[in-house]
Amino acid sequence: TGLQFGMIGLGTMGRNLLLNMAEHGFAVAGYDKDLEKVRLLGEEGKDSPVKGFDTLEAFIQSLKTPKVVMMLVPAGKIVDSVIADLKPLLSPGDIIIDGGNSHFTDTIIRDTDLQQVGLHFFGMGISGGEEGARKGPSMMPGGDKSAYEFVKPILDTIAAQVNNEPCVTYIGPGASGHFVKMVHNGIEYGVMQLIAETYELLYKGIQLPENEIYDLFSKWNEGRLQSFLIEITRDIFAFKEPGSDHLLIHNIKDQARAKGTGKWTSQVAYDLETPITAIDTAVSMRDLSKYKQLRTQAASLYGETLPRLNIINKDDFLTNLERAFYFSMIVTYSQGMHMLYQASKAYGYDFQLQEIAKIWRGGCIIRSQFLNDIYNAYQNNQQLQHLLLDEQIAAQVTETLQATRTVVAGAITSGLAVPAYAAALSYFDTFRSERMPANLIQAQRDFFGAHTYELIGKEGFFHTHWSGDPVTALNNGVTG
Ligand code: 6PG
Repeated sequence: TGLQFGMIGLGTMGRNLLLNMAEHGFAVAGYDKDLEKVRLLGEEGKDSPVKGFDTLEAFIQSLKTPKVVMMLVPAGKIVDSVIADLKPLLSPGDIIIDGGNSHFTDTIIRDTDLQQVGLHFFGMGISGGEEGARKGPSMMPGGDKSAYEFVKPILDTIAAQVNNEPCVTYIGPGASGHFVKMVHNGIEYGVMQLIAETYELLYKGIQLPENEIYDLFSKWNEGRLQSFLIEITRDIFAFKEPGSDHLLIHNIKDQARAKGTGKWTSQVAYDLETPITAIDTAVSMRDLSKYKQLRTQAASLYGETLPRLNIINKDDFLTNLERAFYFSMIVTYSQGMHMLYQASKAYGYDFQLQEIAKIWRGGCIIRSQFLNDIYNAYQNNQQLQHLLLDEQIAAQVTETLQATRTVVAGAITSGLAVPAYAAALSYFDTFRSERMPANLIQAQRDFFGAHTYELIGKEGFFHTHWSGDPVTALNNGVTG
């Protein structure tokens, strides 16, 4: 006897996930050292089989064996201190799940450490925010498979469902669950930045009235751009500051914060030597937003002449913008998927990319109509190395490319910043270049640092004394 599942950390995510389980009939326990949060759990869960605790010992004792404990606490040191508190209270065979946004390298260390004392551990990315947690999130468990299998019936039940299939699947070994969640967040940053730039074009660029911005996002959300992020953006453009006629968004400071998952995605992408330029740009633009004082100085130095887009016809522009957004969104997802492909090889994760696309179709922040296309692409070809090489995707890219050029060129000419759109377009133009100007980089490296270069049609590495006689220079070729 005892309760089936325990949650440590009754913040919004932990509490809502637990209430989700309880509403599905699972008898569950929640622990938080903050009494107010325990009280809130009791109040919101008064009609369901959920019990709150403010002491860890009593909480652990309430669970049946093997004990299943999930942590939903802020990433970093707190996770380690909770694990340290748990260790003496648990016995071999018990299961610990880290459901937070932990850095995957921390998860690897914790996994090894807990295995040594006979505890089962798995890291699981959970996406969906407050509402997702309560009504059905998307979940990305990786690591100890037997432990996952044990908890699977609960996870399958509480997950978001798409076509009667749960948005949760075993991701792979080690820290792969947290890895996939990290990349999910990188894509999230990228798409959010694209939407923010879209707002810039609409609001500053063509001075579209707010209600028309709302209408446009509504329309977009009914077509191929349908997605959670477009949907909430639509609603933001209808949300008035309480008691006024003014949209709340206008009062919000233009300085974006971040908890780190987007930055990690970029850092790890550099480690993997996998370019994800739209995501990198999104991370950098959040950072640039924080330099308000410098931006204010620069605005007065260079003059922010309230740039306006030079457009001939509003409807044509909006048609092009829809295409440009679609194009840039495709590139952003493609970069994230390519990163997963490369990580799968580098870390031995053996990702099933079609399965990952499948569980992202519901519950998570980046859920979108387009994920069906991603799913189909990897389902048709499980060896697909890059989404942009899929024929169906290529057709969509080709169809939206010219409009993207028009929008990006127009913005740049008018002095409106569209860094993520531009990054997506330039990535694409580089990606489709059979020959890049990288030969010059190699020549330069060899010139100043004797770093050698490779020659077309010849084996080996060569070095040239560039400032010497060009005719004899090649004869100085070195191999090695
Ligand atoms: C999700 C979100 C979630 C959280 C992010 C926000 O998938 O549910 O990604 O995990 O909202 O951590 O990240 P920032 O605070 O870095 O924007």
